[in-house]
Amino acid sequence: MKRSTESIKILVTRVFPKAGMELLKAEGFSVTEWNKEQPMTYTEMLEAAKNHDALFCTLTDKIDSTFLRECNHLKIVSQFGVGYDNIDVKEATRLGIPVGNTPDVLTEATADIAFGLMVATSRKMFYMHKLIQNSEWKTFTPNAHLGIELRGKTLGIFGLGRIGFEMARLCKAAYNMKIIYHNRTRNMQAEAKLDAHFVSFNELLERSDVLSLHCALSEETNGVFNKEAFGKMKPTSIFINTSRGLVHNEIDLIEALRSGQIWGAGLDVTNPEPMHPDNPLLSMENVSVLPHIGSGTEETRGKMSVLAAENIIGIYKYGIIPHLVNPDVLKER
Ligand code: DGY
Repeated sequence: MKRSTESIKILVTRVFPKAGMELLKAEGFSVTEWNKEQPMTYTEMLEAAKNHDALFCTLTDKIDSTFLRECNHLKIVSQFGVGYDNIDVKEATRLGIPVGNTPDVLTEATADIAFGLMVATSRKMFYMHKLIQNSEWKTFTPNAHLGIELRGKTLGIFGLGRIGFEMARLCKAAYNMKIIYHNRTRNMQAEAKLDAHFVSFNELLERSDVLSLHCALSEETNGVFNKEAFGKMKPTSIFINTSRGLVHNEIDLIEALRSGQIWGAGLDVTNPEPMHPDNPLLSMENVSVLPHIGSGTEETRGKMSVLAAENIIGIYKYGIIPHLVNPDVLKER
């Protein structure tokens, strides 16, 4: 017999935009919402999840194999976010637990942040703003703190999926940039519409004036941007990361900027997060750092909340998860 939705308990691990919560409540689910700004601790989340049927969570929640084994009764782990490297998806699949995510809706907002960081870095905007705050704007200085221009330069994209495509489209439209990319597979749409050229990883490093990361964090991409990689980049190049902080090695990045191996960096993701306020990157002239706000608009976060709720509603009402990360789970059930 089908369970009534009131008896189905959803654990919501953070304070999320209301839209998704309202949707779940309108469907009659019993929703337990964490109401503090700081995330639940691992133990708090584990204990609470044992008494719930489904999880509505996000990238700050560590859903590892121990957690999943202790909570193998969960009907779904629904992630608020497109990335899901905080979840041991392999283990979830093995245990027959579906994992949902929220793709597409954050493509444009995230590409906007990559584009904004590129422009801000190329003109040292964050640093110049701080300089005024520190009463260091004394006069117009014809030859100090000069930026570099982007028109006609080469944009390299590492991971040309939806967000990478949108970043490339913006750069082409705004500055007629040439697009090169490195990916696991060729992106024929980008090649046809943006005249993007597939290149080897080394070529991407050597030719990019701006190198923007749009890959998922995986065993393959963890730490790929290290001393050796930065060493192959142009001394005039700008490195942009809006994907995951672990894709770059932050010590190596600091060194590459200090030694002039690369010119600048714009980061929306760091390693670790939150970044320590004493991090040397924060006082560098050619660096712009944001606190992981790629998807942070009213519109986008609202849509993400709705999609994460729809994944839960989908499995209970229709037996289908609109955005299922681990389709192999169906074989395990
Ligand atoms: C994601 O969705 O993975 C972003 O990093 C957070 O919005």
